[in-house]
Amino acid sequence: MSSNNFYGSRLTTEPLKVQLLKWVGNKQRFAAEIISHFPKKFHTFYEPFMGSGAIIASLAPRHGVGADGFQPLAQLWKQFENNHLSLAKWYQERWSFCQKGEAKTQYEQIKARYNKNPNPADLLFLSRSCYGGVVRFRKTDGYMSTPIGPHKPIHPDSFTKRLDVWKQRLSSCKFVHADFRETIDLADRGDLVYCDPPYADSQKILYGAQTFSLDELFDCINRSKKRGVKIVLSLDGSKKSGKHQCRLNIPKSLFKRQLSINCGRSMLKRFQMHGLSLEKEVVADRLLLTY
Ligand SMILES: C[S@@+](CC[C@H](N)C(=O)[O-])C[C@H]1O[C@@H](n2cnc3c(N)ncnc32)[C@H](O)[C@@H]1O
Repeated sequence: MSSNNFYGSRLTTEPLKVQLLKWVGNKQRFAAEIISHFPKKFHTFYEPFMGSGAIIASLAPRHGVGADGFQPLAQLWKQFENNHLSLAKWYQERWSFCQKGEAKTQYEQIKARYNKNPNPADLLFLSRSCYGGVVRFRKTDGYMSTPIGPHKPIHPDSFTKRLDVWKQRLSSCKFVHADFRETIDLADRGDLVYCDPPYADSQKILYGAQTFSLDELFDCINRSKKRGVKIVLSLDGSKKSGKHQCRLNIPKSLFKRQLSINCGRSMLKRFQMHGLSLEKEVVADRLLLTY
């Protein structure tokens, strides 16, 4: 393919200022820094662990595929692709419902309905209104257990404006529910893949308990690298999980470079400490690049 095919890999390079969903591990604040290390030219951008979509929306690729293994979240993004304003309606209905009584009681009703039947509409509102934006699931049965947060969820009008901004940036993207292996295997020569997997240790209880193996991710990255795909991987570097430092066995020569991205203090830890923040819990993500 001629290099012209890479022309205009992004729809815009304007920074993205507003967040749509709250999600554990949301990379919105570090998106510009992470993206500054991406190649300037690529064909299709793939994000197999897209979560709240902070990176794909900040990048605004001309061709993009966002995927997540957590079904209600992936359904939410699919709905966004098909009719983004239906998310405004979902949000408005639940926001208004919470105005009609004591917010905590109303919130608990929405949470109970979600737990009975996990669905994207309730997940959207819970993500915006739960404590610390930490949508947390019980390991045994996937029960979403986070209580209501002390903040006021944003007004539906502001949420609708955010949806419009995000839609413009993601107008050329497709969204799928898929395991990371399927998504990465789609990428071909000239494509770019950004991976932000669950933190190897501490995030196993989150995200609805999908299976995730770092070794399988390394295998997948190795295969796609051989096909000519460029891969960027965020990994938790200096973070302590519980009492021990995370140690990861990264295969030698899989990556060419390693950079450090300062991610500030750990949100998850803050949540576990009931809002007390710990200065020592500084998280620095490693960014590993195959090029
Ligand atoms: C650290 S979060 C990604 C956060 C994202 N960068 C953001 O800014 O919101 C990891 C994501 O991986 C997803 N995930 C976990 N296991 C997965 C799997 N096996 N395949 C695909 N996605 C998976 C989770 O549902 C979660 O949304």
